[in-house]
Amino acid sequence: MEQSLVIIKPDGVVRRRVGALVIDALLKRGYSVKAFKEMVVSDALAKMHYAVHKDKPFFPWLVEFITSAPVVAIILEGEGVIEGVREALGATFVQKAAPESLRGRYGIWAGVNIAHASDGPDTAAEEIALWKREAGLEEEAGAEEKAREYIGRYIHGETDYTGEIRAIVRDAIAKKDTSEGVLKKLEELLSKDADDIPQDSVRRLARVIFDFIHEEVEKA
Ligand code: RTP
Ligand code: MG
Repeated sequence: MEQSLVIIKPDGVVRRRVGALVIDALLKRGYSVKAFKEMVVSDALAKMHYAVHKDKPFFPWLVEFITSAPVVAIILEGEGVIEGVREALGATFVQKAAPESLRGRYGIWAGVNIAHASDGPDTAAEEIALWKREAGLEEEAGAEEKAREYIGRYIHGETDYTGEIRAIVRDAIAKKDTSEGVLKKLEELLSKDADDIPQDSVRRLARVIFDFIHEEVEKA
């Protein structure tokens, strides 16, 4: 049976409710959960996972992003799961993702796009082997239950702060505002639903988004 590696990225874990909503939406498509683990990605694993992008200008930023705060690594299994998850996520860049897709609804900006998903059978097999070897990701009978507990624990609440966070990024880029106040506001909003996430991780994620704003302003 086909499997896909799905990684809820730091922006989908620091915002606990967003992560729960995304995992819930994927499970509603009928896939089964074979492995489920929250962890911080090491610099070495990040570089191996994204080795295909190692010569791209955004590579150092991408490694910073994926290691900034915890992720949730999930092996999903089911017929057509690889294409199905990618379709549910929507286009890579948040502004290009259909508004009803998961990235369109909950992604923050550009590549700060809440989740990774394998893009084909070969990459899925390679990624699953890599994460089993380097991150101790394990297939286990209780994985589905762990996922359901995660959803139950974090899906509460009413807002996911996506709109507010996007507004800060959009305004900062439009006004070319790279003052520390922008960083503080990002940190504040990202802290609101960050149950059990170390403040240092929230700060690192805010810094990664702030660095992106910086680059956009410099490009403009
Ligand atoms: P993913 O691997 O995370 O599932 O995303 P994807 O297949 O849709 O996109 P891919 O081309 O593999 O890019 C991997 C991740 O790198 C970030 N990215 N940033 N600043 C940029 O130009 C840029 N391009 C890609 C995104 O986080 C993207 O998901
Ligand atoms: Mg990819």
